[in-house]
Amino acid sequence: MENVTRVGVSLEPDLLEKFDRLIKKKGYANRSEAVRDLARKAISESDIEEGEGDVLGTFTYVYDHDQSDLLQKLLHKQHHHAGHVHIKTSLHIHMDEKYCLEVMVIEGDVAEVRRLSDEIRALKGVLFGELVVTKPVI
Ligand code: NI
Ligand code: NI
Repeated sequence: MENVTRVGVSLEPDLLEKFDRLIKKKGYANRSEAVRDLARKAISESDIEEGEGDVLGTFTYVYDHDQSDLLQKLLHKQHHHAGHVHIKTSLHIHMDEKYCLEVMVIEGDVAEVRRLSDEIRALKGVLFGELVVTKPVI
């Protein structure tokens, strides 16, 4: 195994029992792997909350392509967004005769990624939009 430091952790029996049940349910091979993932998740969430550094976000949204001017507005937002954000790729699915679903992968400062997603969600004809921000901690 790569270079690691062993640490001892004291837990109340009740908490340990619940934790062991959880890690079994989630499919972890052992407690160490579960604790490492929890630490990475906590660090990542804290970085995202504090808005520090670049992140990758996936923004999934559904819109009505018959809504007048919406396609123009969406393209404009995607090409002429303010600040340091890049749309790395996007995926488009024609759901039915009226609605489209798109998934955009956005890279940039977390506040800017959030702002672009908020602006798209607020457009008339966009029915749903959910941003998932990822900042991997190695
Ligand atoms: Ni384009
Ligand atoms: Ni479509």
